[in-house]
Amino acid sequence: MNETPGRYSEAAVVYDAFAEKYRDYSAGKAAYISSVDNLVCDALINGAGAMLDYGSGDGVRGASVAARTRPAVFFQADVSPEMVARCETLGAAERVFLVDRADWSEDLPPVDTIICLWNVLGHVPGTQVRRELLAELFSLLKPGGRLFIDVNNRHYAGYGRLQSLWRRFVDRISPDYARGDVRFNWQIDGTDYPASGHFFTPAEMRDLLTTAGFDIASSLAVDYTTGAVSADPTQGQLFFEAVRPG
Ligand SMILES: C[S@@+](CC[C@H](N)C(=O)[O-])C[C@H]1O[C@@H](n2cnc3c(N)ncnc32)[C@H](O)[C@@H]1O
Repeated sequence: MNETPGRYSEAAVVYDAFAEKYRDYSAGKAAYISSVDNLVCDALINGAGAMLDYGSGDGVRGASVAARTRPAVFFQADVSPEMVARCETLGAAERVFLVDRADWSEDLPPVDTIICLWNVLGHVPGTQVRRELLAELFSLLKPGGRLFIDVNNRHYAGYGRLQSLWRRFVDRISPDYARGDVRFNWQIDGTDYPASGHFFTPAEMRDLLTTAGFDIASSLAVDYTTGAVSADPTQGQLFFEAVRPG
């Protein structure tokens, strides 16, 4: 039985169905993924402490980051039971949590580092619930702890320079985060799954992170195709290192 709270259940259903294909899909994004991983690992050169991989997917990526950064203890968590099962089979984490109820984290000790990679936050429906998730991640960190998060970029120039320019203009004069919401049918093995996603603006992410209590230590963009890292926020996936003040 899937006891995932309703607000997250759509992502759980879709990623359960997609779990089998996830590794191949992920391999196709290797340039962007490895660039983000390098940013995370470089920032953790002096140690990761206790680390949580939140929205771990099949766990392979988080396990690779953990192998490079050698956390004192490593946990993974995901909303999809199929993904959690894959993490458990992989066996990299001390414990894998299924995010299936409000108190899923009650046995998780405070952590020094959270990685929340590849638009996990964009699968969370609605600004208020995204705020609640960031506040939850904040509460899981020790003071001084760090969150590494990347999200889809509504202003990415690669979607078309004119479109990016227009969106930046509209979002500046009349901000409305709901413009970044998309609904679509995700066809997996011949079945259509209703799915949703969210594309964030840089200003929106700064608002969400700082309102949750974080200081932003760095913000960069990582090109989806080449993995090139840029300080220009129109140049790819939005990547943030955010710190819970000590
Ligand atoms: C694109 S995958 C990224 C997986 C992994 N972080 C990576 O980079 O390979 C997004 C993952 O987020 C999970 N997810 C979506 N919404 C979630 C939520 N509210 N809480 C925890 N996990 C969630 C999905 O089940 C899926 O495994």
